[in-house]
Amino acid sequence: MLVASVLAFALAVHGLPAPAQNKHKCGYQSCPETKPGFLNVHLVPHSHDDVGWLKTVDQYYYGKFNDIQIAGVQYIIDSVVFELMRDPSKRFIQVETAYFWKWWQEQDDAMKDIYRSLINSGQIEMIGGGWSMNDEATTHYQSTIDNFSWGLRRLNDTFGECGRPRVGWQIDPFGHSRETASIMARMGFDGLFFGRLDYQDKNTRLQNRSMELMWRASADLGSDADLFTGALFHHYTSPDGFCFDSTCTDDPIIDDVNSPEYNVPDQLAQFISQVQEQADSYKTNNVMLTMGGDFNYQEAQQNYKNMDKLIRLVNAMQKNGSNLHLMYSTPSCYLKAVHDANLTLSVKSDDFFPYASDEHSYWTGYFTSRPTHKRFERLANNFLQVCKQLSVTGNVTGEKEREYLDAAREAQGVLQHHDAITGTAKQAVADDYARILTEAIHGCQNVTKTAIHNLLEAAGWSGPRLELESCLLLNISQCEASEGRAGFLVTVYNPLGRPVSPYVRLPVSGRNYTVTDVNGMEVSWQLVPVPQSVRDLWYRKSKASSELVFRAEQLPPLGFSSFIVTPSGRQSDTARVYRTHIGNERVRVDLDASGRPSNVARGSARLPLRQDLLYYAAADGEDLASGQVSGAYVFRPNASRAYSVAAVVNTTVYAGPLVEEIHQVFSEWVSQVIRVYKDEDFVEFEWQVGPIPDDSGKEVISRFSTSLASQGEFRTDSNGRESLLRRRNHRPTWSVQLEEPVSGNYYPVTSVIALQDEGAGLRLAVLTDRAQGGSSLRDGQLELMVHRRLFHDDGFGVGEELNEMDFDQPLVARGKHYLLLGDTASAISRERLLAQETLLAPWLFFSSSRAAGQWEKQMSGLKLALPRNVHVLTLEPWKDGTVLLRLEHIFQQSEDSSLSQAVTVNLQEFFSTMTVVSARETTLDGNQWLSATRRMQWRTDPPAARQEEATSSPGDSLEVSLRPMQIRTFVLEVK
Ligand SMILES: *[C@@H]1O[C@H](CO)[C@@H](O)[C@H](O)[C@H]1NC(C)=O
Ligand SMILES: *[C@@H]1O[C@H](CO)[C@@H](O)[C@H](O)[C@H]1NC(C)=O
Ligand SMILES: *[C@@H]1O[C@H](CO)[C@@H](O)[C@H](O)[C@H]1NC(C)=O
Ligand SMILES: [Zn+2]
Repeated sequence: MLVASVLAFALAVHGLPAPAQNKHKCGYQSCPETKPGFLNVHLVPHSHDDVGWLKTVDQYYYGKFNDIQIAGVQYIIDSVVFELMRDPSKRFIQVETAYFWKWWQEQDDAMKDIYRSLINSGQIEMIGGGWSMNDEATTHYQSTIDNFSWGLRRLNDTFGECGRPRVGWQIDPFGHSRETASIMARMGFDGLFFGRLDYQDKNTRLQNRSMELMWRASADLGSDADLFTGALFHHYTSPDGFCFDSTCTDDPIIDDVNSPEYNVPDQLAQFISQVQEQADSYKTNNVMLTMGGDFNYQEAQQNYKNMDKLIRLVNAMQKNGSNLHLMYSTPSCYLKAVHDANLTLSVKSDDFFPYASDEHSYWTGYFTSRPTHKRFERLANNFLQVCKQLSVTGNVTGEKEREYLDAAREAQGVLQHHDAITGTAKQAVADDYARILTEAIHGCQNVTKTAIHNLLEAAGWSGPRLELESCLLLNISQCEASEGRAGFLVTVYNPLGRPVSPYVRLPVSGRNYTVTDVNGMEVSWQLVPVPQSVRDLWYRKSKASSELVFRAEQLPPLGFSSFIVTPSGRQSDTARVYRTHIGNERVRVDLDASGRPSNVARGSARLPLRQDLLYYAAADGEDLASGQVSGAYVFRPNASRAYSVAAVVNTTVYAGPLVEEIHQVFSEWVSQVIRVYKDEDFVEFEWQVGPIPDDSGKEVISRFSTSLASQGEFRTDSNGRESLLRRRNHRPTWSVQLEEPVSGNYYPVTSVIALQDEGAGLRLAVLTDRAQGGSSLRDGQLELMVHRRLFHDDGFGVGEELNEMDFDQPLVARGKHYLLLGDTASAISRERLLAQETLLAPWLFFSSSRAAGQWEKQMSGLKLALPRNVHVLTLEPWKDGTVLLRLEHIFQQSEDSSLSQAVTVNLQEFFSTMTVVSARETTLDGNQWLSATRRMQWRTDPPAARQEEATSSPGDSLEVSLRPMQIRTFVLEVK
């Protein structure tokens, strides 16, 4: 009611057109007119609303704990809407859909109409539009796409075309990845703005006026992935002295000449000089001023009232010859003005990592901060994809299940936020992220259970209902569903579109077993001891002293096979062996006298390779010239060298028919298992670090040292997709001065870091199971940071040291590295496939074995396996019974002589449980029909290479062809 009467008031006083009669002049059509010949100053009112940081998402939304930070997002939106209603010239942008959606759900129809009218008139511009403003270093592209897809879906469902963002708004993430830009371009965005870039890069760009550029964001996709990119002048805050927000202490504009506080001349002089300085660093006669900051506009009238005065006063100077023209505007309106100026943009094709805010502050610590959260997020993505796929193939249509799936989508969206997966939120907030993910996984378990039952029933199954439980603590060999039962059924689901044959490991408490597959055939298995360091974990609640290992042969694509484990039969034939190597015919690891690897052999090729776990001593602010310390954001060791944890490593070697393992103990807080499975060509390093001792800050790395002549170069992936070449002590676009030789050479590793020796034709790659920081500080050497414990706050806002505790003791982290050695011509294809197998690993569902006798189920969601270069990136229920399908070509050009070729998939013969009736292609996010998408064209130097015809097949055909690195997104009608 209040809302309705406020609207009536607004209409009466200001004569606003009624919402229903609005002309829908949103988007570029709604932009304020710029004045030719003037310097047009675009004031962009905005609020940066973190989806969790110092407070949790809900604490921020409702405005709880204002003693921690004055921030209440619900009031921000309320207050802004009120101001916009009163004056159609005012503008605002809405960024994080997580917050918008919370607010929208609470509004009555009258308020929804008002908001809709503000969207339709362009007064409110949706921008960015992801569920959260994603981090760009530690996120995987699959999750970044999901984050946008879900946010933009809510916007399109609610507002249609006028709710569609045109530009990316990554104002706060700590460095910028090429893949994020590529994703935005393929979503149809016309541009991207961000706030943070290396201070040296920024100075260079300001000087040569290249803050605005064309980012060539893919080596493979041509102009499809080109994106206008603008770096903001003043981070994302208001000009100095012009924060009019209720959380700021800057002076208001006092324009009563009779007031003793009258300050207009000073204020204008200060404002104009800042605008001039900015204009001198950009090329067109437009500048954008970001008017806002963190959680600003809770009392929006303060901001707008003072900006009104500023606009009036500055524009009034025009009659005295001033050439400044101020207006309320938005980022897309600024972009349009820049575009209309017909400038020629320079081209950049590397990325914006690492980010340094000064010579001692390289923000490369967060690449690793909170390592267990980073892994948990990846595990949740693994299960979310299983949940989505099974919802489709298992025809899950219930309302309750849909809510569970939506909650899981939202949870993963929240986790992509640049203070969530990054590990840069306060501990209490990190705990809340873990709660959100845990609930999402539990919800999805109901969905997967229903789906598998639907599939079984459709196939005529009439046995008892299966429990189909998941175990989330398999990484510490704890699983009640396997170890607590004498016998059990394990259903292994494969989320990939091709068959895989993974080794599975199940914690068990017995000694004698029989494992049988769907055909009743016995499967060979082996028991491997759980390492003592795992058994000693004080919070582990498990009787399992061994893991049962077997190979799940030929799991069907998007399908499952079940195995029955019976507690009788023969004993395991694992033995402790007294040798100093492990391996198989394909790969072998030798140990030296200190218990560390000394050689890796692959076939006949033998490479001296030493692997060690070491630590950097963190700068603590006392022993170095600058006081900058290592913290949640920044990595700063107090010296370039890393220290050994132990001189001699205690080793025990176990061998059996399926796997050989070296169990290493470095110290009380560092241990590792090195393993090689039969028939596999990689070596697994399962590191375990913690509790890191209390004495001083430590940042622990795993380092691989070889004789490879890598000539200062190494390669890291961009968010799990394209590969980027890195060169030590070098940046591609400016001449870098590095005063931090270690952290200034760290880069984000989402999935893989690799070295090549062109002369020897060898390539060494290490794949990760979560995002980590990594580098090559010497030729032939790779390192990854696995864990960090720090006792100081690094001064960039979080206000806490990174000192994670778990059940009252310092955190223990455990994880895997996969080492692959190959020749440069063929190694990459192996890495691509292995990366996929680890990201979307098979998911294990446990049930009691009551059903065992009747069990012979193996099912595939696909009629045929897909070629190895094609990936089902997304398969999820969409709207009105449709299905969203993303198909991806996972190879870059010339990575592999056959797999890098274009490939075609036929959707007519695709699913096993349903038929595709029609397919309609959309932009990458799935919310805009591709046929209706037009992007701004820009003039660049050098010009864009002519794009070959995008696809050889028409957009909506059921024959889908894919070029290297191409992702195509379709809305399918199925029956
Ligand atoms: C844009 O600039 C180019 C040269 O940089 C010029 O050839 C072209 O005519 C200009 N177009 C317009 C519409 O001004
Ligand atoms: C999916 O289930 C619904 C009922 O829940 C049914 O109407 C529909 O035919 C089923 N679709 C398929 C492809 O089995
Ligand atoms: C976006 O929303 C509009 C308006 O509701 C709708 O017509 C259109 O189909 C939606 N686009 C997609 C790709 O779903
Ligand atoms: Zn932020």
